[in-house]
Amino acid sequence: MSQTQHPRILLGVSGSIAAYKAAELIRRLRERGAEVQVVMTAHAQAFITPLSLQAVAGQPVRCELFDRAAEAGMGHIELARWADHLLIAPASANLIARLAHGMADDLLTTLVLASAAPLAIAPAMNHQMWSHPAVQENINRLLARGVHLLGPESGDQACGESGAGRLLEPQRIVEQLLGSEHRPLAGRRVLVTAGPTREALDPVRFLGNRSSGKMGYAVAQALTAAGAQVMVVSGPTALTPPAVERVIPVETALEMHAAVMEHIDHCDIFVAAAAVADYRPQAPSPEKIKKHHHEFQLRMVRNPDILAEVAARHPAPFTLGFAAETEALEAHAREKLQAKGLDMIAANWVGGAQGGFDRDENALLLLWRGGQRELPLMSKRQAAREIVHTITERYAAFTARQNFGSPPG
Ligand code: CTP
Repeated sequence: MSQTQHPRILLGVSGSIAAYKAAELIRRLRERGAEVQVVMTAHAQAFITPLSLQAVAGQPVRCELFDRAAEAGMGHIELARWADHLLIAPASANLIARLAHGMADDLLTTLVLASAAPLAIAPAMNHQMWSHPAVQENINRLLARGVHLLGPESGDQACGESGAGRLLEPQRIVEQLLGSEHRPLAGRRVLVTAGPTREALDPVRFLGNRSSGKMGYAVAQALTAAGAQVMVVSGPTALTPPAVERVIPVETALEMHAAVMEHIDHCDIFVAAAAVADYRPQAPSPEKIKKHHHEFQLRMVRNPDILAEVAARHPAPFTLGFAAETEALEAHAREKLQAKGLDMIAANWVGGAQGGFDRDENALLLLWRGGQRELPLMSKRQAAREIVHTITERYAAFTARQNFGSPPG
């Protein structure tokens, strides 16, 4: 249906034993780059808690029509307008009846009436219920109104019987809703580092930096949307974890180094978006440092360069580094590309009006041996999609070189 890369999906969950599958459905939708807002009926909450779905959706879940706090944020009419798609999965017999009769007796049914977005429903119920003439009459009424019916499937049911009425598998719901898309990195494993590192001075203090993790997370998300299996090794951030295969939280550069080395073996692509501390205090104090002296000297030692070490492996994955610079952007970035033996580098200005650390926007210069591409100031999410597009092209050239031993291009 939708061809946009970030469709906004309002997911309604109603009372059915299949409600627990909503969690996987949300994950799959987010993997496809969708933004998901979840609304649960009262009966759905008997099967799965709003908190569980909130954790996977990364957004508060709405349950009440007359919720003062929620209405003070995105009100229900705004929510109805926000959606590109309304998807109800699972849709119970009761909910289908209420939809068929145009009722607006809770938040979900009210939103359906208040929204102009197309509605898709994925029914789930016992097979006797599904084949009951009352349910079939309601379904036909909804179909005549243009509602998109996803499933149900036939097979074993939770009640121990077998027949039509099973919720369509989440992956198939996503495919039927959003269509199967071009996934150029399908089957590729990617490791991404993101966020800052923290180097302890003592048990309460650390040296850190201004990286928010936004760029790394956005690239991880865009790689996932392109079909890659993505693992993120992340320093401490205040962000909702990206919907990727695995996120490994770390704190120090040494921990990040260890996590990357443990998992890099089977990776095809390595993206180093983390702002890794180049140095760490040589001997962090085991106790809180007291202000006994007028001066305080800190002895620092070098941290391993994770990116350079990965790029020096034989065979090495396709490596993309980031260069954050305050002057001579292209020259410094080209130097790093060469010195660290990278396949590609994304360079950005930091500290100026051009975006960079802790901002939502970024302007970047992508460089590789023999080429470059400029990305003007845009949202980090948009920039991430453009970076992934260029990774896909460069990665194709990289694998062609490996396979045919042709000269570098
Ligand atoms: N990087 C890394 N491990 C380190 C330091 C940096 O993996 N110990 C990676 C970063 O994730 C980034 C790239 O190297 O992708 C560039 O880091 P940057 O700090 O800009 O460059 P440096 O090589 O450290 O050079 P300088 O600090 O002199 O600018």
